[in-house]
Amino acid sequence: MRPGGLCRIHHATSLASAASIALPGFPPTTFPPPAFRCFRPGTPRAGSGSMDSTTMLPPGVAVIADFDGTLTRYWIAGRRGQTSHGLLQQGNAEYDAKRQALYEYYHPLEISPTIPIEEKTKLMEEWWEKSHGLLIEGGLTYDAIKKSVSEATIALRDGVVELFELLEELGVPVLVFSAGLADIIEEVFRQKLHRSFKNIKVVSNRMVFDEEGCLVSFKGKTIHVLNKNEHALDMATPIHDKFGYPNGYNPDSVLMKQRTNVLLLGDHVGDLGMSDGLSYENRIAVGFLNNNTEMSFKSYLDAFDIVYLNDATMRGVVELVSQLCAGNQ
Ligand code: TMP
Ligand code: MG
Repeated sequence: MRPGGLCRIHHATSLASAASIALPGFPPTTFPPPAFRCFRPGTPRAGSGSMDSTTMLPPGVAVIADFDGTLTRYWIAGRRGQTSHGLLQQGNAEYDAKRQALYEYYHPLEISPTIPIEEKTKLMEEWWEKSHGLLIEGGLTYDAIKKSVSEATIALRDGVVELFELLEELGVPVLVFSAGLADIIEEVFRQKLHRSFKNIKVVSNRMVFDEEGCLVSFKGKTIHVLNKNEHALDMATPIHDKFGYPNGYNPDSVLMKQRTNVLLLGDHVGDLGMSDGLSYENRIAVGFLNNNTEMSFKSYLDAFDIVYLNDATMRGVVELVSQLCAGNQ
């Protein structure tokens, strides 16, 4: 256990997959290895003439990150950090209470390690459908979103800003892929980051507002915690449409599809499906295990390459990215 409650574990059986993108021969007991590289021998490096000179993107690396409980802290000053759904106050007490009641019923089911996956998937579909229905029925405006975010108990993990800055500097695209609410996540970024990052895109449930600024529907297929694998990259299209790309042409999606080395950050085993839309060659999956630690420990170790406990900071990931991309600076 590290000081500050950080425990970093490297899963021994997944070392083989990690080793496929590492320099050969690093000792299995140290992770990240001192000379870890994300490019296999022979892959073009920065300055070799093959790097895209307009974007300075290191070829082949992408980051896909979940939002709630991954980029955000699980605990804040002894209180549970709120999710993008959970922080939302519709300005309609009756409907806020109804959504809270849904949370109290479904969240324990969401984190239960004993419910079979098919059954849990149905329960999650039910939860999202009811919750989105209540948001539309009870009324919601964009002003209420701004106010809710400013009053919320939500914080990015220490080191997230550092990570975003490093990835921007390296030109690495980041897809924030969430079963939460895109409009809220973007407002959280606006209020907490105080600046925008061109390399970061949010793929999540996106609201549609009418001319009066009232929520009328959601775009596309609902993303919940267990179906992130389905329509993974399709969900990016409406976002890019918003930025004005014509006829569904989506350069960032193409860009993501070309990436062959993926760093995935999640707090739920279902988050592993976030990379299913990509034809990557190598993936390192980092899991934040926030609750039910004892019961979920083994399944997280089986699923992720690295597991962080105790609401760890993002600094280990910053360190990992620095080492993975060390040859590209
Ligand atoms: P994530 O994909 O960013 O982790 O977001 C999903 C979280 O949102 C998940 O942990 C459950 C939570 N949630 C609520 O807090 N309230 C809700 O009404 C719904 C539908 C989900
Ligand atoms: Mg999450």
